[in-house]
Amino acid sequence: MKNLSYIKFAFSFLSVALFITACSEKASETTQTAATEEPVESQEDIVKRGEYLVGIMGCNDCHSPKKVGERGPEIIPELMLSGYPSDRPIVKFDSKMIKDGFGMFYPDLTAAAGPWGISFAANLTPDETGNGNWTEEQFKKAMKEGKAKGLENGRMLLPPMPWTNFTQLRDEDAHAIFTYLKSIKPVSNIVPAPIGPDNI
Ligand code: HEC
Repeated sequence: MKNLSYIKFAFSFLSVALFITACSEKASETTQTAATEEPVESQEDIVKRGEYLVGIMGCNDCHSPKKVGERGPEIIPELMLSGYPSDRPIVKFDSKMIKDGFGMFYPDLTAAAGPWGISFAANLTPDETGNGNWTEEQFKKAMKEGKAKGLENGRMLLPPMPWTNFTQLRDEDAHAIFTYLKSIKPVSNIVPAPIGPDNI
């Protein structure tokens, strides 16, 4: 009788052990499949990821005109990411304060003055006055190397464009951001050229 229960115990132990082995083999098969099969990202997924990156990387802070609403500055939806609005009169900055070392922003951050002069946030919408005619390569060069219009011989981008934060930007992230920017509403807006420090 005692022997029988030992045998029973041994059998149930064995079947549990076999079950565990089978499960772990199954699990390693699944991980292997996951590692070899690249998930296919749809165009929609890429646009969504680009929108997410633009959101968390704060591009709207400077590139989107805003109006003051109940919760402080709010993005004007139809002007999203279209840069400093060209129909806005350029405020006279206090150049004495700038010479003393201060920097200043327009209340919606689309323009800033400092020792570099006055810079105006660019139009990033897919209009021809924005990035409509840009290639992805140009976009990457502007973002990662700080070259205006992404041109090799372009001038360096001025502050406060934080391009030095983006030198390590991965190709797939740059691609997602660019794809998203190409998908948004085009806004015709010729952003003024920067004003040199001696002219403010
Ligand atoms: C703190 C403000 C600020 C933030 C944040 C910011 N930018 Fe800019 N950006 C600017 C300004 C100002 C310029 C124009 C600089 C100049 O004229 O030299 C600019 C220029 C650019 C340009 C070059 C445009 C051209 O015509 O050469 C690109 C591209 C750009 N920004 C993309 C982005 C993206 C994408 C993000 C978010 C990941 C971003 N910027 C975040 C302020 C900002």
